[in-house]
Amino acid sequence: MPPVGPAPTTLVLTGATSGIGEAVARLLIPRVTRLIVHGPQHPGEMDRFLGRLRDLGHSEVHYVPANFDDLAAVGALADRIAALTDQVDVLINNAGRPGPPTRQLSIDGNELTLQTNYLAPVLLTERLTALLRAAHGRVVHVSSATHLSASLEPDDLNMEHTAYSSTVAYARSKLGLVAHARWLVDQAPSPRFDAVSVHPGVIRTELLHAMFDIGGAPAAQGARNVLQAALSTDAWDGQYLAEDRSAPPNPAALDPDFRSRLMMQTFRLMRHVSADGRSFSVGLDGA
Ligand SMILES: NC(=O)c1ccc[n+]([C@@H]2O[C@H](COP(=O)([O-])OP(=O)(O)OC[C@H]3O[C@@H](n4cnc5c(N)ncnc54)[C@H](OP(=O)(O)O)[C@@H]3O)[C@@H](O)[C@H]2O)c1
Repeated sequence: MPPVGPAPTTLVLTGATSGIGEAVARLLIPRVTRLIVHGPQHPGEMDRFLGRLRDLGHSEVHYVPANFDDLAAVGALADRIAALTDQVDVLINNAGRPGPPTRQLSIDGNELTLQTNYLAPVLLTERLTALLRAAHGRVVHVSSATHLSASLEPDDLNMEHTAYSSTVAYARSKLGLVAHARWLVDQAPSPRFDAVSVHPGVIRTELLHAMFDIGGAPAAQGARNVLQAALSTDAWDGQYLAEDRSAPPNPAALDPDFRSRLMMQTFRLMRHVSADGRSFSVGLDGA
């Protein structure tokens, strides 16, 4: 296990309201100066949750809501984060959902699992790029070992021509994240930031039990793996971690042609996203 560095100043953690994310937040509180936690719930419902976190240490804790089923809400989330800080040392894209039993579309017209688990974190990362660069920071995508068996056709991201199942949709979304971490490092304009994807382990959470009839380890174990990915002093340079060590990813993620086709189609799906009706373009040179 590589050395874990000193606590970062500002850390953004999505999906902090349950499971692995909540366990990560609890481990981070004593170590981090400012923790910005995200969840889908309205802030009015989060007082007790935030109170429990604040009791654990002296960190400044902020809660920012967004439902990832709506990409405009992700844009608004990035704006709220930017209003709280001028740099992000670590962004942990942990929020995720199981695939629904049948194919569903988000309000943006995208396959729901792809949107929540892949398009939303890619968009959030894109919108926080300046703050990550300001800190020479790091993006951690919480992926899954299920990505190893996935195939993802960039021309059919929304599964219009691909046989749907909840686990297929989930695994594809996680392959997207593994490829995106590599793509981020590949095209890293200066000042650069680091990126990594991590399988946290098979962890006993609602998400796991919605898709698989298996037990799983406690959330704290998955949280330790995510934390190591986030706080290691060594640069990961886009690697995939299976729990606490570097591992070969799905070969598609290593293929530069696959990555660039994936990102072309990804930016096409995100093109018209705006938090407040203003249009903005995302991607390289507004691609
Ligand atoms: N558990 C495992 O064995 C396992 C294995 C591999 C990878 N993972 C990954 O680990 C991450 C954490 O999952 P978990 O197992 O801890 O599951 P979890 O307990 O269900 O937590 C998922 C988190 O994402 C949030 N979330 C779900 N849908 C959302 C949406 N539409 N918009 C915004 N936030 C949303 C949840 O909010 P609420 O619950 O508060 O509604 C929760 O905070 C996920 O990315 C998952 O794919 C888990």
